[in-house]
Amino acid sequence: MERLHVTDVAPRDGLQNQSVPVGTDGKLQLIERLAAAGVASVEVTSFVSPKAVPQMADAGDLLPLVQQRLPALRTSVLVPNLTGLQRARAAGAREIAVVLSATETMNRKNINMGLEQAAEVSEQTVQAALAAGLRARAYVAVAFECPFEGETPLDRVVALARRMAAAGAQEIVIADTIGAASPAMVRDRLGALRQAVAAERLAIHLHDTRGMAVANAWAAVEAGVRRFDASVGGIGGCPFAPGAAGNLATEDLVLLAHRCGFETGIDLDALLDAVDHAQALLQRPLGGRSSAWLRGQRAKRQPA
Ligand code: COA
Ligand code: ZN
Repeated sequence: MERLHVTDVAPRDGLQNQSVPVGTDGKLQLIERLAAAGVASVEVTSFVSPKAVPQMADAGDLLPLVQQRLPALRTSVLVPNLTGLQRARAAGAREIAVVLSATETMNRKNINMGLEQAAEVSEQTVQAALAAGLRARAYVAVAFECPFEGETPLDRVVALARRMAAAGAQEIVIADTIGAASPAMVRDRLGALRQAVAAERLAIHLHDTRGMAVANAWAAVEAGVRRFDASVGGIGGCPFAPGAAGNLATEDLVLLAHRCGFETGIDLDALLDAVDHAQALLQRPLGGRSSAWLRGQRAKRQPA
């Protein structure tokens, strides 16, 4: 059976925007539950300015704990610049992700750089990571629509993806940061991107703002992409991109995959335990669109 590769980004994208502070232990337990459910790859945290994102201030403590407890888990961390890479390396990072937005304004709001400077810094950071023996992912953010500039020109998205691939990033993550994509846009954009970057190196990162994340995920599967970011419980959103709602929920993606003949290695009942844990951490009900049904199925299998 063919596999869809899932990276759970809840500990980073999911938590960065939450007003309830989550402690290092709570994050570690969430990641342990994800791993116990069979999630093989997790974006653990980000090495960004703690003034910009206070929730990620414990990155240097969390990463070594995760890698010690879960040595087989593939871990990545978001870094915006060389300072972030330095901090990540000091904490023992094995894989980093740079974040390059495809518009001028989004880069300024997110990382206080213009587009060209952001591209150069991302290239340098990827190259330095590879030289140090790390793996690198490169996000191309607001790859569909920017909250400040409207629809993002496709030729620019393709050019930036090509540039990050040329810099050596093993994985190019096409991100619908504010959840504005449609299945038709996903088909067209990934079709164009595949001409520039091999499908095996492309990943997609979706948000569910308009209720189309699962449809968009399926469009990506049909376009030949097999690498997905998703967030358990559907938590997520960029604090600097107004209007971004939660991510594609990992449970929705996994259910879609299993219903359509793909394997993920992830057990849905165990994944619900991770949703429950995230709910306890954030003190509010969470879950993707399939959660009510999944919980009902779990209750039938595990009567109280
Ligand atoms: N981690 C921690 N501190 C960092 C840092 C990093 N990756 N990069 C820079 N800094 C520190 C500098 O050392 C400096 O510290 P000082 O004031 O004690 O001297 C301070 O931050 C300002 O440095 P500067 O290079 O001028 O940064 P900036 O103020 O222009 O901010 C970023 C740039 C990238 C650090 C900041 O915008 C940021 O962290 N953005 C992250 C956004 C994010 O996480 N978005 C969501 C995910 S997409
Ligand atoms: Zn996101």
